[in-house]
Amino acid sequence: MQITFKDVTADYQIGPLRTPRVLDSVDFNLEPGTFTAVIGHTGSGKSSLLKAMNGLLIPVKGEVHIGGTVINRSKNKKSLKTIRKKVGMVFQFPESQLFAETVEQDICFGPLNFGVPLEEAKRIARQVIQQVGLGPDILTKSPFALSGGQKRRVAIAGILAMQPEVLVLDEPGAGLDPRGKKEILSLISKWHNNEKLTTVMVTHDMEDVAHYADNVVVMEKGQAVLHKGVRELFADIHALKSLRVDIPQARKLQLKIEQETGVKLPQVCLTIDELANCLMKAGLV
Ligand SMILES: Nc1ncnc2c1ncn2[C@@H]1O[C@H](COP(=O)(O)OP(=O)(O)OP(=O)(O)O)[C@@H](O)[C@H]1O
Ligand SMILES: [Mg+2]
Repeated sequence: MQITFKDVTADYQIGPLRTPRVLDSVDFNLEPGTFTAVIGHTGSGKSSLLKAMNGLLIPVKGEVHIGGTVINRSKNKKSLKTIRKKVGMVFQFPESQLFAETVEQDICFGPLNFGVPLEEAKRIARQVIQQVGLGPDILTKSPFALSGGQKRRVAIAGILAMQPEVLVLDEPGAGLDPRGKKEILSLISKWHNNEKLTTVMVTHDMEDVAHYADNVVVMEKGQAVLHKGVRELFADIHALKSLRVDIPQARKLQLKIEQETGVKLPQVCLTIDELANCLMKAGLV
């Protein structure tokens, strides 16, 4: 499903006051099936950008298109409902939104809300709980009796149970240990590929960008200042410097090796495996 921002400007209304533009003339197009990482400094508008994809932040100017549905100033209720069904949003620390008595009830809540019959919702819950790497015995437990990593998986399972076509995730690995984070991101990546989703993920970690995304949007002061393929971004050392974007380990190592040997490798390497392959092909190891 295609996601298009057409000159989108948005702000938050706090009582009678409006914040300065938190999204400022944002204009881009994310092709169906792509995995986009959203990066940028704190307060640059990353979370606001995701909220605009899910109808939680309505543009004051411009339009957001999700597939054939449009969100603009004159937001109509039907479009918002359609968008919320199509776009699954995993907030930062989603486990804080678990609320039901059992994991099963929590996961079934979304599907039931969209009119799925109870037995079907329970079947979906059993399916998604397995897909996030948990056993069915967890379904009868209280979500509050789980570990941090388990809660995060249950919260993500609740979104997947709604069978969204677009998945937007706000730092899904935040606060997890490295292994838990890797497991969560791998399962998101697997889900993205299997279900042919369009996925958008906010992250601060350039290793995540290098490993999982195929393109990147860089936010700065509410503006999408750059939208590029991941390899193109990490090829452009000047852009990285001026945007103050970190370089993934493998790419850093590649640049150092190239500098010391004078040999330029034929591709931008994003992972250690890619770098090792490139070095072998070039006869450098
Ligand atoms: N609910 C809100 N009400 C008013 N202002 C808000 C609200 N949420 C965010 N803002 C403001 O909007 C701007 C962008 O915030 P946003 O949360 O989108 O940034 P971010 O890039 O996600 O930052 P972080 O990396 O810290 O999560 C900030 O100036 C912030 O203060
Ligand atoms: Mg944020």
